[in-house]
Amino acid sequence: MSYKIVVLPGDGVGPEVADAAMSVLVATSGVFDLSLEFDNHAFGGAAIDACENPLPTETMAACKVADAVFLGAVGGPKWDGAALRPEAGLLGLRAGLNLFANLRPVDVHPALVEYSPLRPERVSDVDILIVRELTGGLYFGKKNREGDNASDLCKYSKFEIIRVARIAFEAARGRKNHVTSIDKANVLETSRLWRETVTALQKKEFPNVELRHELVDSAAMKLITSPGSYDVVLTENLFGDILSDECSVLSGSIGLLGSASLGSGRLGLYEPIHGSAPDIAGQNIANPVGAISSVAMMLRHSLNAPKAAQAIDNAIYSALENGVRTSDLGGAFSCSQMADEIQNRIFAD
Ligand code: IPM
Ligand code: MG
Repeated sequence: MSYKIVVLPGDGVGPEVADAAMSVLVATSGVFDLSLEFDNHAFGGAAIDACENPLPTETMAACKVADAVFLGAVGGPKWDGAALRPEAGLLGLRAGLNLFANLRPVDVHPALVEYSPLRPERVSDVDILIVRELTGGLYFGKKNREGDNASDLCKYSKFEIIRVARIAFEAARGRKNHVTSIDKANVLETSRLWRETVTALQKKEFPNVELRHELVDSAAMKLITSPGSYDVVLTENLFGDILSDECSVLSGSIGLLGSASLGSGRLGLYEPIHGSAPDIAGQNIANPVGAISSVAMMLRHSLNAPKAAQAIDNAIYSALENGVRTSDLGGAFSCSQMADEIQNRIFAD
């Protein structure tokens, strides 16, 4: 059986990191005897330029029948202020594929501790998995603009909270068995529903997973003062957007981190969490590790190949340990050279 992978290179450094990640995926599929088919499609600003739609109908149709989708990056100053924005394509893709859970792992490689803005003793034990709700809340509530007034509705249902919380609790079982649910229950009604629902789910289905609730403002502070005290972080869409960027700097470079957006089936969307970085686009200097980590997540969550995923994680670890670095980490390797170094370290066991 062959898996269909849709590749959306997108904008800025997206195409470069997508090429780098796909070269590692192809090499890994050879080592692990996986059969993969690749199909590239227009998306984001590139698709606005080509056909005035950030999420063309053909792209959406191809994603719907794929086993996994890889996205490079979307957006850039070129489309700022335009009526059609590349980001709308990303929101449309998440909603259209019903990818309600966004997983963003943050850890700190021992060889890169010095690149973190925090003191080494604070980051050495960081291993956080952020589980962000991705298709609800302020991002998708009714928007209104009338004269000098504007509003965005924040709406959540129990159903939406339960399905993403379940993913967080299940993930915690394979980790340190701890979930921190982050909300603003002292002010927001949606947060009160969130807290009640998560508490009830834990009691009913996950009594052995420890649950702690935190308010988002104090959590934003504690994620910096004691990041090692978190395991799985569960939160709603906007808080998750903000806190995941905050946490990304702990690792030393935003270029290192990958992500998975999942729904109720096997189909997932995988993308590095760095943006399109237009200032360095086209120079082959972007860090491909976030994109390559996303491919490892794809193998794990969509392609049923956990050993191949582990082989990629090990190869990244070994490359970084041996001083293979792009310029964001003080190195001189190009994006494609870094990918080659990782690819040459993929072994079957
Ligand atoms: C992210 C990004 C997106 C978001 C943007 C590009 C719409 O910031 O994936 O975190 O806000 O979700
Ligand atoms: Mg974001």
